[in-house]
Amino acid sequence: MAYSDKVIDHYENPRNVGSFDKGDNSVGTGMVGAPACGDVMKLQIKVNPTTGVIEDARFKTYGCGSAIASSSLVTEWVKGKTLDEAAALKNSIIAEELALPPVKVHCSILAEDAIKAAVQDYRDKQPQSQPA
Ligand code: FES
Ligand code: FES
Repeated sequence: MAYSDKVIDHYENPRNVGSFDKGDNSVGTGMVGAPACGDVMKLQIKVNPTTGVIEDARFKTYGCGSAIASSSLVTEWVKGKTLDEAAALKNSIIAEELALPPVKVHCSILAEDAIKAAVQDYRDKQPQSQPA
């Protein structure tokens, strides 16, 4: 099976590889695994607490080329987006952008799950104005 040029580009030149400090209150961390293949993806966002806009993102992915390309693409895509926009990201957009074949669609689902988990983690960390 051939990878598309975009997958190869993101795989060979992954954007935003690395980590932020998990304990930082402006950071949200999403860590997800794919039961089907055992790949693991960690995606982190850094949020401006005043505007709620994502300013930066990092990822570490232990997995196939499509999983690495999907996470790399998502870290680029979320910059400048609001938390709501990031949480609404659909894996189909990633799969389409990278021209993933059907057997690799779950790799893009991993990236969707990871960004959603990162947004949720960030939200869970913020002090609530009203006690729940
Ligand atoms: Fe083996 Fe994704 S299935 S790396
Ligand atoms: Fe499992 Fe890509 S994440 S094959």
